[in-house]
This record gives sequence, C-alpha cells and structure tokens, in this order.
Amino acid sequence: MELPYAEPFKIKMVEHIRKSTFEERVRWIKDARYNLFNLSSDKVFIDLLTDSGTGAMSDKQWAELMLGDESYAGASSYYKLKQTIHDIFGFKHFLPTHQGRAAENVLFSVLVKEGDMIPGNSHFDTTKGHIEFRRAHAIDCTIDEAFDTTLYHSFKGNVDIEKLEKVLKEHHQRVPFIIVTLTNNTAGGQPVSIENLREIRRVADRYQKMVIFDSARFAENAYFIKTREKGYENRSIREIVKEMFSYADAMTMSSKKDGIVNIGGFIAMRDEKLFKQATIYNIMFEGYITYGGMAGRDMNALAQGLHESTTFEYLESRIGQVHYLGQKLKEFGIPIQEPVGGHAVFVDALKFFPHIPQSEYVAQLLAVELYIEGGVRGVEIGTLLADRDPITGQDRYPKLEMVRLAIPRRVYTNNHMEYVAVALKNVYDRRNELKRGFKIVYEAPILRHFTVELERL
Ligand code: F0G
Repeated sequence: MELPYAEPFKIKMVEHIRKSTFEERVRWIKDARYNLFNLSSDKVFIDLLTDSGTGAMSDKQWAELMLGDESYAGASSYYKLKQTIHDIFGFKHFLPTHQGRAAENVLFSVLVKEGDMIPGNSHFDTTKGHIEFRRAHAIDCTIDEAFDTTLYHSFKGNVDIEKLEKVLKEHHQRVPFIIVTLTNNTAGGQPVSIENLREIRRVADRYQKMVIFDSARFAENAYFIKTREKGYENRSIREIVKEMFSYADAMTMSSKKDGIVNIGGFIAMRDEKLFKQATIYNIMFEGYITYGGMAGRDMNALAQGLHESTTFEYLESRIGQVHYLGQKLKEFGIPIQEPVGGHAVFVDALKFFPHIPQSEYVAQLLAVELYIEGGVRGVEIGTLLADRDPITGQDRYPKLEMVRLAIPRRVYTNNHMEYVAVALKNVYDRRNELKRGFKIVYEAPILRHFTVELERL
C-alpha cells in the first residue's frame, strides 16, 4: 500500500480552546448582531475566519526570534531576509512593510494615478481598495470557468488572455502594470498555471508593461503547478517558484500567509529605479529601508518561514488538510467550490439554501448557523462583502455567494476538520427549517462586512 502523507512535524506546545454550548452560542451571536467579527475569540471553538497571520511558527522560527537584530539601520535581520528573498524569488531589491496592504500602498503610490486601469485576475479587496482610492480601476480578467463552482478546471485562478489583450489593446496608455494574484483568493484560492504566467509575460512585453505578482500564497500556487501541470512533476517547489517569479518585474507580499508569520509583508523588485522611488514612500509610511514596519526578530522568523513553506513535504500536508475537509463535505453532499483551493474550502450558499433569496444574505446565514451549531467561525464572501453600488446605492449581488472556511497553517488536526464537517452536515440536515435570512440594521458606507449589524427576518 502507498503510504499516506503525514504532517512533517510533531507538536511541542498546545493552546487550549474552549467548547461552548448551543444555547450560549445562540445568545452570543445575537448579542454580536449576527456579525462574526464581533465575537471575542474565546467564544469560538474552531476559528476558520482566515489563514492570515493565524499560523503556528516552528521551533526554528521561534529560535530565530532570539537572534533578531533590532538596530534601526543596517540590521543583520534585514540582510538575512534580503538574501532569502533573492534566493527564493530572484529579486535583488526589497523593502519590508508591516503587512500586505502596506506593500500595496507603497508600491501603488509610485505606480498608480487617477484614471489608470489595472487588469489582472480577481484583485483582493485591499488591492482593489488601494487602486480605487487613487481613482483608478481594477479590471477583473479571470477566466469564466472560475465562476462555475461545479466545473473542474486545474487552474481556475488563470487570467483570460483574450480579456487581458482587449484591455491593453483599447487602453494601453492607461495601464501602468498587470497584477496577478497567486493564488487567486477571491475565486476560491485557485491557482494560476505557469503556462498562463508565461502568456501574461508575453502580452506584457508586447505592450511594454510591468507584471506584478500579489504573492500572498505563492508557495501553495507552486504546489498546484507541481501536482497538476505537465512537465513540472519532477521539478522542486523552489525551482518552480524561481520560474514563476522570472515572469514578474515586482511582487507585493503579505507574509502572514505563506511566510508563516503572524505579521509582516514586503515589496521586492528587479529595477533599481523603482526601488528608489518606492523607498521614499516606504520611509514615509512604513519605516526606514532596513526595517519598514517590522521588528528585526520578525524579519528573521519570516526568512525561516519562507524556507519552510517552500518544501514539498510541508505543502503536501498543508494542502492535504484543506482537501481532507473538502472531501468530507462532498461525502455529505454539501455544495462546495471545486476543485478545492489551497487555503480554504468555499461552501456555495446559494446551492445550500436555494429556497432563500440572495437579498437576505444567505452566505451570512450559513456562517451564523455553522457558528451556532458547532462554534466554528467562517467568513461570508458574498453580498455583504460586495458592498452597495456607489452610484445606485443598491446591493451588488456577486456571482458567487460563499462561506469561506480558511484553514490556518499547522494549527488544527484532521480531527478538527472532521468536527467542522459534521457541524456543517448538521446545518445541512436542518436547512429546510431555516426559511429566512437577515436584514441590515446598521452598515458603514464601505467595507461594511466588518461592522455590519443584522437582525433575523
Ligand atoms: N493579497 C491577498 C491575495 C490577500 O489574501 C490579502 C489578505 C492581502 C493581499 C492583504 O494582505 O492582510 O497582510 O494586509 N488576505 C486576508 C484574508 C486578510 O483573510 O484573505 P494583509
């Protein structure tokens, strides 16, 4: 028999989590106005709100913290991380930032101006936010297959090259760069193929445009290339990552994902002129060049985390766990986005509750019911997140109305996944007893999902 994968680590320290009762949770979530962000974490048993900054560091990362150099200028921790970034991604220049959105803020301060158009695969919220804040436009050129949750496609994160070419053909003067998100979080943690990256580079070269990678989950993307793309089966993760980034001019990174640290980010690039321009904003917004919003010890832990996340053994167990949960849900007949992505399982709420209209925030209903059932916290990726149309003031209904169950790295066991699957099955079994969703009683004008207050209909 072929040996199954097993975690390439054992557990040295544990953190207790508290179970609660059904009745307690009914009360707590009502007090939280049916907004899961309002729950204090001690009221959550299994927290799948995000995989961002929630991972467990290794003993070697903790050891690196002790070796951190906290010098304001020229810290050895900076040089250690610079060398690691050069070795892994091939970029000569780098600037630390306090997290991913800060990297976007700094780089876009140099590159984005009013009226610009920035094509790519589904831009993450903060990326889109930093583009729109500058009165520019994010143009989503993701392939259509990504929006059909039941359709199998190995690389649902891909950019549709025809859509991209059309934007460039019609508006090339207004396009400062193309941005590719690896993996495509918004479309379900779906990967982008090497072939697609190569094509994007070809189009970019034709129009002399830069290609920037939003790289939060770059290592998970590389794992999918190795396991799904022809010709890459025998290449190491590190070799694949090197090739992926050979097609980019610069990258932004949220280190809270595939850096396996709790906070941090960076920008890296080939071009010295761009580095010098970005340096000005980095010093203003983040901090001096050699720390930019990060402690020296955190840069050390990040350098070590990048070495660990770019190993096949780690990625196999990490993505294996996400797929284990997906498989369990499928066995229970629960409608999920397929194939399962790298960091999360996305549950299709419109298919889960076909009898409740989208205008009653069905993905939020599902997230709330899952919490009540088992103390499991997921997050709505649907109408609440989509905000209102700024012109008409009407709710915008996204094509996909989902609950994302994002799995933190190296934190939970497969027994926890089993528990989550059963909790969701119990909600599925009583789905017809649930007849109505929610109405909004308070909302902020933008990014409303963080603070929205709801009442049951
Ligand atoms: N890009 C992607 C693809 C992301 O998923 C995120 C964050 C960011 C950029 C911003 O990075 O949080 O370090 O400022 N995603 C988190 C999530 C919040 O839950 O998916 P950040």
